[in-house]
Amino acid sequence: MTRHFLALHDYTKDELDALLSLAAELKGKQKAGIPHRLLEGKSVALIFEKASTRTRVSFEVGVFQLGGHGLFMSSGTSQMGRGEPIKDSARVMSRYCDGVMIRTFGQEIVDEFAKYSDVPVINGLTDLFHPCQIMADLQTVIERKGSYQSLRFAWVGDGNNMANTWIEAAVILGFDLALACPEGYQPDATVMQWANSKAPGRITLSNDPRQAVKDADVINTDVWASMGQESEQKEREKAFAGYCLDDALLALARPDSVVLHCLPAHRGEEISDSVIEGPNSAVWDEAENRLHVQKAIMVTLMGTV
Ligand code: CP
Ligand code: NVA
Repeated sequence: MTRHFLALHDYTKDELDALLSLAAELKGKQKAGIPHRLLEGKSVALIFEKASTRTRVSFEVGVFQLGGHGLFMSSGTSQMGRGEPIKDSARVMSRYCDGVMIRTFGQEIVDEFAKYSDVPVINGLTDLFHPCQIMADLQTVIERKGSYQSLRFAWVGDGNNMANTWIEAAVILGFDLALACPEGYQPDATVMQWANSKAPGRITLSNDPRQAVKDADVINTDVWASMGQESEQKEREKAFAGYCLDDALLALARPDSVVLHCLPAHRGEEISDSVIEGPNSAVWDEAENRLHVQKAIMVTLMGTV
């Protein structure tokens, strides 16, 4: 059966740990200039229905470093943007390609694509989840802290695709996660229900950023208006007042805490310039690790490792 990477909840702790360890191995090889052309002769379609810098470049470069060919496709310049059914696109693409990555809106779109695809499909961000990003974030935490085990994680900001994916990671991998989200901007209710039934007490949710960040080892935030929500920017700025990860908030965390942000960042909104540029920030390593962890995901799913 074809295995996809659509949401972390499809994976066990052991499987995610194996991906993270392969990501570290591939990073070592890439840094040492050791060839690892595990996708020689393979093609991977990269479909974007939303904007991207990191996801596009890290997937394209990653496939290239693995000896394969990455094809960039946008909805505006393909028949998908003109209404060709997802299930038709999925069957056609699987006749040409060995793997597909999609960035789109609803999670049901990637689910539908995967249902009809004979080749592995990777979620490159939906409104609900951003699993590749959280894998890169975990790789970064392991690099900085040795392990994610026994650490206190905090989320400050919108209960968005990143927050939902962190919740899944916390439940599957077994670490505590405290989220602070304003009223009306909480994480997905189904994801929260799933988390509370699988691991009662693991996830705490409040609307107090100071409480969430207190003694945290890892602090994560993200933009207040995600892609597709641009028209809500002004009202969100009001709702998220007091949610800026600045020096005062960071001072409540452990002194050696790791600050993560998936980028792009809006300095002065969800994070201050001093924090993103400061000594606790790991955001550039985090962005780099997209490359390594996605290479691990691709070769694992395509069975070429
Ligand atoms: N973090 C992330 O997914 O960045 P892009 O939107 O630039 O791909
Ligand atoms: N939550 C953001 C993440 C961007 C990488 C968005 O969906 O736009």
